[in-house]
Amino acid sequence: MKALILAGGFATRLRPLSCTRPKTLFPIVNKPLLQWIFERLSKDGVDEAILAVNALTKFYIKQTKIPKQGLKIKFSVDPPKKPLGTGGPIKKAEKLLGRSEPFIVLNGDIYAEIDYKKLLETHKKTKALATIALCKVEDPCSFGVVELEENKIRRFVEKPARGQAPSDLINAGAYVLDPEVFDYIPKGKHISIERDVFPKIVEQGRLSGLIIEGLWKDIGKPQEYLEANKAVLDTIKNTKKDEKTCFKVNSPSALDKDVSIGEKSVIGPYAIVGRNVKIGKCVSISNSIILSDTEICDYATIKGAIIGEGAHIGESAKINNGCVVGDKVKIKDKVQLNEKTKVCPAKEINF
Ligand code: GTP
Repeated sequence: MKALILAGGFATRLRPLSCTRPKTLFPIVNKPLLQWIFERLSKDGVDEAILAVNALTKFYIKQTKIPKQGLKIKFSVDPPKKPLGTGGPIKKAEKLLGRSEPFIVLNGDIYAEIDYKKLLETHKKTKALATIALCKVEDPCSFGVVELEENKIRRFVEKPARGQAPSDLINAGAYVLDPEVFDYIPKGKHISIERDVFPKIVEQGRLSGLIIEGLWKDIGKPQEYLEANKAVLDTIKNTKKDEKTCFKVNSPSALDKDVSIGEKSVIGPYAIVGRNVKIGKCVSISNSIILSDTEICDYATIKGAIIGEGAHIGESAKINNGCVVGDKVKIKDKVQLNEKTKVCPAKEINF
């Protein structure tokens, strides 16, 4: 079976971190999201993954060298300066996907424990044109919401107004599609599968849904990205307790290779620290993600924040809840960032 991974969006809501990497390469507990996706697809019997990208995303993905998990990897690139949306790339990849059997399409910005075999079974059993993985959420209004009867979707409402959602079941961003869907998408156009294609299929009574049970996390916004990391961290076994260290690591936390920590520092709970991060003495980090190659100087405090790659956090600096610090930013000594401050890549903050 083949899978098309949509990964050519601009991730505007994840700026400034997405200024320097595509969403699908954001690390989830120190491993690129795309690697988690490859692992799951390969486990569920997919043998070929086609990445629907733009030229820049293709460059970043190739540079990252993610283990392929036995998958054959191909790229389908949107035309220059002409993004095709979430539907157009499916038509663009028609030749690569072929017309011989149903295929999977999924958003490259979700962490989802979806049983793709079961999704395919439901698709075949219900003789649908498209079968959507569905997820129960508390607030469905910023997603596509469905009305489900048995496995049939009776209504699909994209981002309904508050109070207008037909249920709490949302489009989880993963589908099985029949090749006939190619006939619903015009060539070379920016098409939204959610707004332009699914409503037509619903009208014909050929849209199915399957409620998924595992963990599902969208990483569209910084807070969601942080929450996704924390949720995945909860599913991984706890940090092994380091006896007799002169610093403390509170579980759950994840430290990648070559992390150094100075004396009396308190790391965690929920500290996710990337490769080659240097942490000074008496530093406190909790509920935060620190990407690789960053340096955090003595007495700094980081809570509820995301710090980009290769950043420098000065001595006694304080980075507060909701802050997002871009790659290679320099925060000088004693600087305090107010809650929800966003700092663009490579900036120097001196006050
Ligand atoms: P925002 O700008 O923050 O809304 O993010 P986005 O547009 O990158 O993501 P959105 O949630 O709207 O898209 C869902 C998935 O489709 C993501 O994995 C995107 O990478 C992908 N996607 C969105 N637009 C395009 C596009 O024009 N071309 C391709 N190939 N993929 C896209």
